[in-house]
Amino acid sequence: MTHDELITAAHDAAAHAYAPYSHYKVGAAALTRSGAVITGCNIENAAYSPSICAERVAAFSAWAQGHKDIVAVAVVTSSGETCRPCGTCRQVLSEIAPEADIVLEDGQGGLLVERLADLLPKPFGPANLTSNPTVKI
Ligand code: THU
Repeated sequence: MTHDELITAAHDAAAHAYAPYSHYKVGAAALTRSGAVITGCNIENAAYSPSICAERVAAFSAWAQGHKDIVAVAVVTSSGETCRPCGTCRQVLSEIAPEADIVLEDGQGGLLVERLADLLPKPFGPANLTSNPTVKI
C-alpha cells in the first residue's frame, strides 16, 4: 500500500462524510502494519458537539477491530486542500498511534508526510496519570 493508495482510500471515505452544517467533507484512512486499511469520515450532528472527525472514526474503528498497530493515517478533504488533524485528533493519535506517518495532500497534487511528534509536541499522556498515585491504569 503506497501513500498515494492510502490517500485514494481516504478520498473514497470522504464521499461518505455527513457534513450538512460545515459542508467540509473529510476522509481518513488508517494503514496497519499487517496492511489492513480502515477508513473514516466526519459525521456531524444537529447538536454540533457530538460531531466527530474522520481521523477519530478511522482510528477508533481500527482499534475496535483489533488493529492496534497503525503505521500511517492519510487525511484528506474533498477539495484537495491540506487538512491537518485538529487538536483533539492529534491528542488521540498521539496515544494510540504515536509513530504513525500522517499523510496529507499539499493542495498542488503532491503529498506531505508529517509526524505526530511535530504536530503535537510534548503531549499529555498515560505517564501523566501513572505519576498520580491515586490513579490506576
Ligand atoms: N474535521 C475533520 O473531520 N478532521 C479534521 O482534521 C478537521 C475537521 C471535520 C469536523 C467537522 O465536521 C468539519 O470537519 C469542519 O470542522
